[in-house]
Amino acid sequence: AERPEVEGADPSEAAKKVKIGIYFATWWALNVVFNIYNKKVLNAYPYPWLTSTLSLACGSLMMLISWATRIAEPPKTDLEFWKTLLPVAVAHTIGHVAATVSMSKVAVSFTHIIKSGEPAFSVLVSRFLLGETFPVPVYLSLIPIIGGCALAAVTELNFNMIGFMGAMISNLAFVFRNIFSKKGMKGKAVSGMNYYACLSMLSLVILTPFAIAVEGPQMWAIGWQAALSQIGPQFIWWVAAQSIFYHLYNQVSYMSLDEISPLTFSIGNTMKRISVIVSSIIIFHTPVQPVNALGAAIAILGTFLYSQSKQ
Ligand code: 3PG
Repeated sequence: AERPEVEGADPSEAAKKVKIGIYFATWWALNVVFNIYNKKVLNAYPYPWLTSTLSLACGSLMMLISWATRIAEPPKTDLEFWKTLLPVAVAHTIGHVAATVSMSKVAVSFTHIIKSGEPAFSVLVSRFLLGETFPVPVYLSLIPIIGGCALAAVTELNFNMIGFMGAMISNLAFVFRNIFSKKGMKGKAVSGMNYYACLSMLSLVILTPFAIAVEGPQMWAIGWQAALSQIGPQFIWWVAAQSIFYHLYNQVSYMSLDEISPLTFSIGNTMKRISVIVSSIIIFHTPVQPVNALGAAIAILGTFLYSQSKQ
């Protein structure tokens, strides 16, 4: 009963569109803020495994408080729910940490240009692993997506292999996450918001031991002192902002995934990247060559063509 169902309540199509529009605008705005603070933190404190963990920890804490104070109704879950959530959480953890590692090595805009290739991964996974077939125009739309990303990558001034591979791994992991999430949410009594809360908590449990193994408290403490003396006390606010906004944008994105298909979700996500790419280039004064920007534009145009050919 807690699920804010649109289907059951039967409001008009127009009202549903307005609602999705508001979700999308909020999702994109929160994501821009997250990306800026995340990069500010990573520039001063290059420990992406810890910052990824803090984002999940902060979201988990926010939701536990919301449940305890009844700001949000806690979900009723059983063992079966958590079992089905496990592969989603593994994919979410890998996609999240890979993207953050990527952004610690390259410009935010570059990570997001590569991440705009996510629809291509979606088609390839559906075709080769799930045996789904698509009409020819869908395959043709992959040419500008893959070609545009490739052009942007080879002309990137600050190319870095870890940065590139992190964004590619994130693409692959998030395709699985979205497919499994939609399956897991279907017909369940858990709302998009609570589904994402549980996902954060399980991902936090998975990520913490790896973060300790890869980076560890000793490195974190030394780096923290260095960042604090370089930036001053506002560094703590940057860390808090990246963590809080990470949770909020994901929560809103899951509230919309609750009501749309994974395809619409991934198109919305690619459109989101345009605002992230443009704002991060402005804020961080990222050098871009015209041919580099052309590659990004072709990739994003490819996504438009993809969405048209798939509908
Ligand atoms: C992350 O840290 O998970 C990435 O920034 C996520 O990227 P996305 O939500 O924009 O795909």
